[in-house]
Amino acid sequence: MTTLKMTVNTTVKKGHISPLIYGSFAEHLGRCIYDGIYVGDNSDIPDTDGIRNDIVEALKAIKLPVLRWPGGCFADEYHWRDGIGDKSKRKKMINTHWGMVIDDNSFGTHEFLRLCELIGCEPYIAGNVGSGTVREMAEWVEYLNCAAPTSVVLERAANGRIEPWKVKYFGIGNENWACGGNMRPEYYADLYRRYAVYCRNYGSGRLYKIACGPSSHDYNWTDKLMESITATKDCSAISLHHYCLMTNVRATELSSTDYAKTIAKAQAMDKIIEKHWEIMGKYDPDRRIKLVVDEWGTWYRSEPGTHPSFLHQQNTMTDAIVAAGTLDIFNNKCNIVDMANIAQTVNVLQSVILTSGKQLIKTPTYHVFDIYKEHQNNMLLESSCENRIFNSDEEIYAVSHSASLKPDGSVFLTLSNADPDKAYETDINLIGNNYDNISAEILVSDNYLSHNTFTEPEKIKKQTYTQYKLKNNRLLLTLPACSVVGIALK
Ligand code: AHR
Repeated sequence: MTTLKMTVNTTVKKGHISPLIYGSFAEHLGRCIYDGIYVGDNSDIPDTDGIRNDIVEALKAIKLPVLRWPGGCFADEYHWRDGIGDKSKRKKMINTHWGMVIDDNSFGTHEFLRLCELIGCEPYIAGNVGSGTVREMAEWVEYLNCAAPTSVVLERAANGRIEPWKVKYFGIGNENWACGGNMRPEYYADLYRRYAVYCRNYGSGRLYKIACGPSSHDYNWTDKLMESITATKDCSAISLHHYCLMTNVRATELSSTDYAKTIAKAQAMDKIIEKHWEIMGKYDPDRRIKLVVDEWGTWYRSEPGTHPSFLHQQNTMTDAIVAAGTLDIFNNKCNIVDMANIAQTVNVLQSVILTSGKQLIKTPTYHVFDIYKEHQNNMLLESSCENRIFNSDEEIYAVSHSASLKPDGSVFLTLSNADPDKAYETDINLIGNNYDNISAEILVSDNYLSHNTFTEPEKIKKQTYTQYKLKNNRLLLTLPACSVVGIALK
């Protein structure tokens, strides 16, 4: 077995790992909100105010820190006033981006914020720039956050909510370079400057305003956007969207070449972030503006028998490797990435959960989030690895890793092995404090296409792992092919 030398320096803290890196995204798309999360008032699926209890429990268990809503492309055709008040009178609209189906607006602002309350996570709301007015956005923020008895606030109270919700994270548009209005960066930047002015701060809270940033490699968008908006001193972050687009193939049918391409696209995240960050630094040397990767994940061909625009896909060990590698990148770039939101939460794209009627399954991606949640709020530690490229065509690294220090002084280390055929022995030199207590968990399969189904819901799940030796601060751990491991050291 090839040995890979690694070091973790437990005395060198590199930055704070925001829990928000472990966020998710729920759009009015296919069966994510309706059916997946929200079953309404007359369902026999156990729910609280129409919100599935099993979904809430599962998301609480991974300590979901933040949820983005209502889109996505849907955000720029969503008019929030259509989704408040008496449900029987709410406007029925066509979801033009996602299948031309009718959305009866029964899941609106109050329902979303109730969902966040039940989960115990921060809400992140994306406002409508593409087809909404400045006044509409301004009044939404007022409805969310103002305590003074204005007409808008009295309307909120009449709809059952007296206290403001104090929403902090607010996006000014989504993908305005495409579905959000087909804008040029200069034009969007002007709109950002205008809309942002009227998204007011109420009380002592300050809105964390997120501008629509680039898609993957669109460095020109970042350049033009930053050149214009930096002067306003009214932007906390710009968003970045990066998908592993493999739309010609289904999740469960990836060939070994497809697998390699998917992993290569996921690993590209590292350089993409660095390049955008470098450009951002030209205009913002004080680094006041951060990156929020508010859409990321795999995107395959939809499952047979489902509406192609519902973006319903299975979730395999490939997705687990993508998730682990990406979360390690975000951890290691925690001074750049303030928040990230996997796309999406339930039944759409790289979901952590799939549902079918009353049934719910936790995907391999869910189990990665479950293992990695231990990094939330820790201090990033310096770590390094003499890595291996296992596929010369795609230049893919076998091992991803990140290490962090918990407030109680213990260390948490994650590793993943993207090599589908080969195990590695990691020889980890722990520099600094002494650790003699170790425990580990693993997610592993001998096949990157392995996944959970409604008939076999627990085929892939995390397990206790013991293939290691710890002596004199040297940890020898076997990392099986296609595996994800979390290690706690005390
Ligand atoms: O997540 C699906 C879609 O991908 C979102 O609606 C859009 O923002 C992106 O193109």
